Amino acid sequence: MTNYKNVEALREFDTPLLVVDLDDVEENIDRMMKRFLRFSNVAVRPHQKTAKSPAFARMILERGAKGICVAKLSEAEVFVRDGIDDILITTEIAGELKLARLMALLKHAPNLKIVVDNRMVVNELQKAIQAAGYRGTLIILIDYNVGQDRTGVETEEDVLSLAKSISECSFLELIGIQGYEGHLQHLDSSTREARCRQAMEKLVSAANALRGNGFDISVVTTGGTGTAEICASVDGITEVQPGSFIFMDVAYRNATAGAYRNALKLVSTVISKPSKNRAVIDAGTKSLSIDMGNAEPCERPDWTYRPAGDEHGVLESATGEIDLVVGDRVALWPSHIDTTVALHDYFHVVRDNAFIGAWPIAARGKVQ
Ligand SMILES: Cc1ncc(COP(=O)(O)O)c(C=O)c1O
Repeated sequence: MTNYKNVEALREFDTPLLVVDLDDVEENIDRMMKRFLRFSNVAVRPHQKTAKSPAFARMILERGAKGICVAKLSEAEVFVRDGIDDILITTEIAGELKLARLMALLKHAPNLKIVVDNRMVVNELQKAIQAAGYRGTLIILIDYNVGQDRTGVETEEDVLSLAKSISECSFLELIGIQGYEGHLQHLDSSTREARCRQAMEKLVSAANALRGNGFDISVVTTGGTGTAEICASVDGITEVQPGSFIFMDVAYRNATAGAYRNALKLVSTVISKPSKNRAVIDAGTKSLSIDMGNAEPCERPDWTYRPAGDEHGVLESATGEIDLVVGDRVALWPSHIDTTVALHDYFHVVRDNAFIGAWPIAARGKVQ
């Protein structure tokens, strides 16, 4: 049973196995870059919280991306070690340990950018840089809540007041504002577009208010795979941060209908066949994340997959028999790519029927 390409090339590797098709990845990067070329004032800074791999980040940078985003300091450390230095960390940094880690990293990556949404952290950053004897300035963006109700200051007044605090810190350089609308990524397309435009209006208005108050704001950054194109079409947005487009998943395939190819699948083995209509595979919640629903068997819409514990998964057929025997291999599309990739050590990279290599997921486990 071979319901996926590249099967022969992967026979020597045991499962569960993440398999990435390089043709599909290249096509996705090309499609993404082409989409944003239309917007001459918008740079692309793809988020690397998805692939967690300098090898894939380099492919994107070589195709014209301005820089990258990461979610966490420990992820940034991996990419800096690999020689990539134009990095925006999109999650707030707080607490003594993280600040110390940031100071150590800054010495190797003076182009590093971080987001802040808190005056106390601004003051602590200033003191930490002074204490570290760092000679440059730390590049700062204000994180603004454009509706996700996660991080970010709440009002335009708060943005201006935080900007004033930053401007009083000689070691901090305010260059921009970030407003991420993660809550809109998977909505139906017309609702997504309408609500994204509202969110972008809020973001651009705050950027303009900053400029009106004398702040030199050159970066207005936002957008994920589901919204980046809408964001880019709004006057005043200067940068987009899509991440999942590189591999895609079931949730994004359903939301963005054909925008990108599903380039990553999980290959599993049938380890038990207790009945005609049920096959048990070696992939449960330790191999496939379930925070956005269940994975889907590739090319078998008549089958369903459900996790049956940490190590097991069950395939069932709505229409009758599952025509698999023990030892067969089955491929599945993950429902949510970021949280699935983070469970594995390697991508098994293929092109046509050739195995290219096992590429480490170098920032796997880097959640600090
Ligand atoms: C701040 C920020 N920007 C961009 C992204 C990329 O979004 P996606 O992977 O949905 O394209 C994320 C994802 O969580 C994010 O948190």
